[in-house]
Amino acid sequence: MRNIVLIGFMGTGKTTTGKMLANRLHRPFVDVDRKIEQQLELEISQIFEKHGEHFFRDVEKRMVAKVSRYTNTVIATGGGVVLSSANLKNLRMNGIIVLLTASLDVIYERTERRKTRPLLECEDKFNKIADLLAQRQDLYNEYDLKIDTSSLPPAEVVEQIILFLRQGGYLRGRG
Ligand code: S3P
Repeated sequence: MRNIVLIGFMGTGKTTTGKMLANRLHRPFVDVDRKIEQQLELEISQIFEKHGEHFFRDVEKRMVAKVSRYTNTVIATGGGVVLSSANLKNLRMNGIIVLLTASLDVIYERTERRKTRPLLECEDKFNKIADLLAQRQDLYNEYDLKIDTSSLPPAEVVEQIILFLRQGGYLRGRG
């Protein structure tokens, strides 16, 4: 069975939705960032601080290549996974790509709550998010399903994904 891969900008709900979806479908869940943290025994912010973004992207690329070979798994990626076309190519090989989006205001509000994102650690966080969104908007363009999560609770996002999977014949039996 193909993987279900959640991509999207920071704060669009990839991890929360991914966990709920995996639960509903009785499938394993992996979060690429958490796997990187476990492998290096460092938090994402510490990896950026100690080794820099370039290093993080290399590790991320290897981890994406690894999890892309899984089957039947719900995979949540980091927001920057689209920066490498190799990542998307790998994830697509055996994955259905679900893009989650949210408005700038909502992303700002959601990412305010947790201070774990090194790229957003700056004075003017709102403008930083706006800049990054603009830089990346053309990169989030390969997906099978796109859901704007701005005003949807995670459970509703999960329902929409399941509906899509069912209609596409990707689910058999359970779910
Ligand atoms: C990043 C997003 C983060 C994490 C890292 C870089 C990005 O993941 O991978 O801080 O470049 O957008 P989340 O999207 O889960 O916050």
